[in-house]
Amino acid sequence: MKDTIILAIETSCDETAAALIRNGSEIVSNVVASQIESQKRFGGVVPEIASRHHVEQITIVIEEALEKANMQPSDISAVAVTEGPGLVGALLIGINAAKAFAFVHNLPIIGVHHIAGHIYANALVQPMEFPLLALVVSGGHTELVLMREHGSFEVVGETRDDAAGEAYDKVARVLNMPYPGGPHIDRLAHEAEESVDFPRAWLDESYDFSFSGLKSAVINYKHNMDQRGEEIVPAHVAKGFQDSVVEVLTTKTLKAAREFNVKQVIAAGGVSANKGLRTSLEQVFLEEGIPFTVPPLKLCTDNAAMIGAAAAYMYEAGVRGDLSMNGVPGKEL
Ligand code: KG4
Ligand code: ZN
Repeated sequence: MKDTIILAIETSCDETAAALIRNGSEIVSNVVASQIESQKRFGGVVPEIASRHHVEQITIVIEEALEKANMQPSDISAVAVTEGPGLVGALLIGINAAKAFAFVHNLPIIGVHHIAGHIYANALVQPMEFPLLALVVSGGHTELVLMREHGSFEVVGETRDDAAGEAYDKVARVLNMPYPGGPHIDRLAHEAEESVDFPRAWLDESYDFSFSGLKSAVINYKHNMDQRGEEIVPAHVAKGFQDSVVEVLTTKTLKAAREFNVKQVIAAGGVSANKGLRTSLEQVFLEEGIPFTVPPLKLCTDNAAMIGAAAAYMYEAGVRGDLSMNGVPGKEL
């Protein structure tokens, strides 16, 4: 049987990415051009700058993905692209590049949800077993998603305010660390032997999350210390913050995994690159006897390989978009 080759494109935030995926599970090439260096100066992602970078990079990145794979457009079965959620101007660059490629080479086009992409990053590592519970933690999302089969997503819990990654980035700013702050806080937290005690937002029995109170607690702590003329120890703050985030994420994920009797638990999104979170989830699910996987670091943060993996299942299921596709900044899962 002929291989299914998906050309996938992702431009929802600050990475311009293209990848070629064979049969939904094999990465043939995976190119990511990051804008982190230029966005750092602004302490976050400036939408207009993100769009400009995407315009400059998108053709180069697609060509590089084809070259690295040693493939021609005629080898490709379909073009996949992130439809949303994300920054509308950024999404549109990828979508228009995908449409142009699909039109010129007479290929079907498939629109993929960014979070579905993060979840399917795991399909590049091992087959997905259902029912499956995914903890999706990124700069824009914190969700517990139950999947009973391919393409079915039930959000059982979500953040009521900040996303976990957003809280990491804001706390990093308070500690004078560069954007994106997650990896810096993670590293600092591991250097600390003591920690500041910060609250945990349990929200009763709910699977929902809240991180804005924790973020405010960190800000207030620094403010109070400043007023008293005392120096904070950034590593102790980082550890206190990370312990709170990791404990809440782990506890709620375990509770949901038990309630829904899942066969597999996965973590996805940029924050799943966090060492503290990975270790904690690995440990509790090892004890619980439920297989837990998290993709390798470079598949946790934004990339196009994950979009291609999600699209491969949609392609098999007959899902097709058309050239009227538009960016959907607040797209529902
Ligand atoms: O998935 P992603 O690349 O982009 C979005 O879709 O949002 O996630 C980016 C987020 C940023 O907030 C970044 O600080 C966070 O992931 N992040 C981390 C780590 N690496 C990246 N957060 C905590 N620990 C890390 N090691
Ligand atoms: Zn993402």
